[in-house]
Amino acid sequence: MIILGVESSCDETAAAICSDNKILSSVVSSQVIHTEFGGVVPELASREHEKLLNSIVDKAIKEASLTLSDLEGISVTQGPGLAGTLLAGVCFSKGLAHGLNIPIIGVNHLEAHIFANFLADPELEFPFICLLVSGGHTQIWLVKDMGKYELLGSSRDDAAGEAFDKGARILGLGYPGGPAIEKLAKNGDPKAVDFPRAFYNDDTIEYSFSGLKTALLYFMDSNNDEVSKEDVSASYQQAIIDVLVKKLLQSMEKENINSCVIAGGVAANKMLRSTLEDQLGSKRVLYPELALCTDNAAMVAYLGELYLKRGVSSGMDFDIEPNLKLS
Ligand code: KG4
Ligand code: ZN
Repeated sequence: MIILGVESSCDETAAAICSDNKILSSVVSSQVIHTEFGGVVPELASREHEKLLNSIVDKAIKEASLTLSDLEGISVTQGPGLAGTLLAGVCFSKGLAHGLNIPIIGVNHLEAHIFANFLADPELEFPFICLLVSGGHTQIWLVKDMGKYELLGSSRDDAAGEAFDKGARILGLGYPGGPAIEKLAKNGDPKAVDFPRAFYNDDTIEYSFSGLKTALLYFMDSNNDEVSKEDVSASYQQAIIDVLVKKLLQSMEKENINSCVIAGGVAANKMLRSTLEDQLGSKRVLYPELALCTDNAAMVAYLGELYLKRGVSSGMDFDIEPNLKLS
């Protein structure tokens, strides 16, 4: 099947073509208008999607050396995400599917992030554990099979990506915060500041990042001049990574599962990847290539094709689901 994927859950306008589990093209436009506000402005994001969708889809089709009439199905992010931005993608996709008289499926953005790992290794076998770390979610899932997910733990407040973004704002580094902190941290000492690591010595599979953010705020108020931003960034990043890795390892041990994947924007963090590799020993870790960690439509097209091939589609009257959960 030749499937068009459309992603607009937040501030990336993306389209991709997947055919027989292979990505033929993937186009992502990251909206830069939000940088000056230090975070995504929903209304601006929706308008930007509406402006860009047509040309981004056109580009994805051309880059795959196809034409509109070659499309056999459309997969679009149904949720979770911002209501207005989801609506832009879903309305656009429904119009196109209706005009071309092809099936459409609304997919779960979180499930698509997890399934991006099958693009890294098509032989990945169930069951495995997934650390899902994005701007809105920090969760550990036991992935038993396609459609069978059990939540093992999550953050009780901020997501890890949010901790990076809020930390970067405090440090005056702009948005998105993850890449900015990672860049500065490269030249810093991760042991320079001893930031708190919530639940680190507990058995519970639970995260909390709001205390870390507050600790950074207080630290910057009182020690601003004594420690370099590189050292602060490296220490802050290390505090996030240490707990992410520790809880992932704990859940693998608890469930007696030796294979894990990471997914979502924070999975693009190279220090997270290398720390996991160092600490996993004989256990296996897999992650998508960098461009498939942050929001993209390749993962949406790939997952949509799997469902459409199984005869699952949404029909024309499905709605956006801004608070969509995985199970
Ligand atoms: O998955 P994603 O693109 O969008 C959501 O579904 O939320 O994740 C975005 C998040 C942002 O919080 C961003 O700061 C973070 O992923 N991020 C990173 C890196 N690249 C993106 N965090 C740490 N290191 C990175 N290299
Ligand atoms: Zn995402």
